[in-house]
Amino acid sequence: MSFGRNSGYTIGFLGFGQMGSAIAEGLARFCPGVSEGRIRLAAYTPHADRLRESIGVLPVTPCGSAEELAELSDVLLLAVKPYQLEAAASGIRDGLAGKAVLSVVNAVGFEKLREFFGPGVRVQYVMPNTPMRVGAGVALFEQETSLTVEEGAEAEALFSTLGAVLRLPGSQMRAAASLSGCGPAFFFMAAEALGDAGVKNGLKRADAYRLAAAVMTGAGRLLSETGAHPGELKDGVCSPGGTTIRGVASLEQDGFRSAWIHAVDATLGK
Ligand SMILES: NC(=O)c1ccc[n+]([C@@H]2O[C@H](COP(=O)([O-])OP(=O)(O)OC[C@H]3O[C@@H](n4cnc5c(N)ncnc54)[C@H](OP(=O)(O)O)[C@@H]3O)[C@@H](O)[C@H]2O)c1
Repeated sequence: MSFGRNSGYTIGFLGFGQMGSAIAEGLARFCPGVSEGRIRLAAYTPHADRLRESIGVLPVTPCGSAEELAELSDVLLLAVKPYQLEAAASGIRDGLAGKAVLSVVNAVGFEKLREFFGPGVRVQYVMPNTPMRVGAGVALFEQETSLTVEEGAEAEALFSTLGAVLRLPGSQMRAAASLSGCGPAFFFMAAEALGDAGVKNGLKRADAYRLAAAVMTGAGRLLSETGAHPGELKDGVCSPGGTTIRGVASLEQDGFRSAWIHAVDATLGK
């Protein structure tokens, strides 16, 4: 139990919106330390009513102030928007002295976090994604960190209960975050488009979405579990002169690959 005392530790969520609540729900469902009570969860956001609503039935203790949260927490999980960072955390820097902060604030990497919190707070930049809510997420850990080795291992173990964990140099974090953080939105659009295509061709919308979700899950698992090249797996679905290759050719004609590459470039401001 590297973040706290022998009796366990408390993770304090500063910010409990889409991402904070997805991580908390994932931990509540999939992290044995949380279900066994060794790891406790707490949260603070300015709108107490919204916080209560987001917590719902999750085992998360709401706090009345950021100061109370900092006091209660052994490790802070910072989950506010980048423009909210200053207002949210500047008042509790002293209260966090000697503690660790895991920050999921987009594009605020190790150097900026260290500058913001000062040398007395150990920091780690982590890029999560919302599929963590169902234990199928991706957490990107920036290699540069001031966590102790034990804390780093504990943080990785924690996030690995929510999906895959990848440690990357800071220079690759933005590009990787575009794939894993923004990528789910692109796949949801693909599912919606498949749904429309199914409905256009006579399927019930609910059936079409069910199929789209099952196909995405299956294709993703096949890709990760076989380790095969995606082109090889695509080729395996396309028989000579068959129907799938006609769909593939149509996607190529409509600029499918370049549309996805442009989308990732756009998230990177290119
Ligand atoms: N959503 C994603 O898929 C995703 C993926 C990767 C990374 N991230 C990163 O995760 C972070 C949070 O994103 P999000 O989508 O969860 O945003 P969000 O849904 O807008 O949630 C922001 C949270 O911050 C709280 N907050 C605002 N001002 C605060 C303050 N002064 N003190 C404490 N809490 C405050 C809000 O509370 P109130 O409701 O009370 O205002 C809300 O709970 C961002 O930096 C984002 O880049 C998000």
